[in-house]
Amino acid sequence: DALWCVLPAAGKGVRAGGDRPKQYQCVAGRPLIEHTLERLAAHPRIAGLMVVISPDDTHFASVAQVHGKPLLTATGGSERSHSVLAGLHALPDSVGPGDFVLVHDAARPCVRGDDISRLIDLAGAGEGGLLGAPLRDTLKRAGASGHSVATEPREGRWRAFTPQMFRRDALARALALAADAGIVVSDEAMAMERVGVAPLLVEGSEDNIKVTTPADFALAEFLIGRTR
Ligand code: CTP
Ligand code: MG
Repeated sequence: DALWCVLPAAGKGVRAGGDRPKQYQCVAGRPLIEHTLERLAAHPRIAGLMVVISPDDTHFASVAQVHGKPLLTATGGSERSHSVLAGLHALPDSVGPGDFVLVHDAARPCVRGDDISRLIDLAGAGEGGLLGAPLRDTLKRAGASGHSVATEPREGRWRAFTPQMFRRDALARALALAADAGIVVSDEAMAMERVGVAPLLVEGSEDNIKVTTPADFALAEFLIGRTR
């Protein structure tokens, strides 16, 4: 069965700079978010897209339509986790409480279809999971003075990407619990870990960058051209 995908796109993109939030800045001739939407809409196992935009958004209306898949919008909140929760609440009734839902950052335009398929197959056999990759670099602990004071073990440490995939109600409950406790969770998996679920780590391509800094736009343009 095909899944809905929630796309948090309500951030301000402070670290990326520019005259508008990063998801609306131009990459390879089009707003960044158009690349993300196009890739997701093209995936045969994605049924529809729920884009979560800021209440102050003035750019989404001019984003090109995706064809062939339903696209809905919801209004996001001050933290990414609030935006995701708003998106989950706004999903259509055709998405059952126990159905799996994907969550994918609008700011990750280089996501690969084969990675999405593997996530759905592997994490869907259990209680959900996420794309990520094991750390490659040596990991240092910085002391107060900015000097390295220790080398941390790299084994068993992963970077978390999106999409992340969990059951609609279980994820909504976990995100609401974290929010009620005043804890800002940086991803869906963190919310699930807090309620005792161990999300499956599915290794994905490192091409799946989150555009975060000004230099990332050029990198995304290169990676989009390479993986199209
Ligand atoms: N996001 C969101 N709602 C928020 C904050 C972030 O929907 N309140 C979205 C962003 O639009 C982005 C994704 O979550 O697609 C990942 O967040 P991040 O990379 O941190 O984006 P921003 O918060 O926009 O960037 P910054 O932290 O640099 O301001
Ligand atoms: Mg942010």
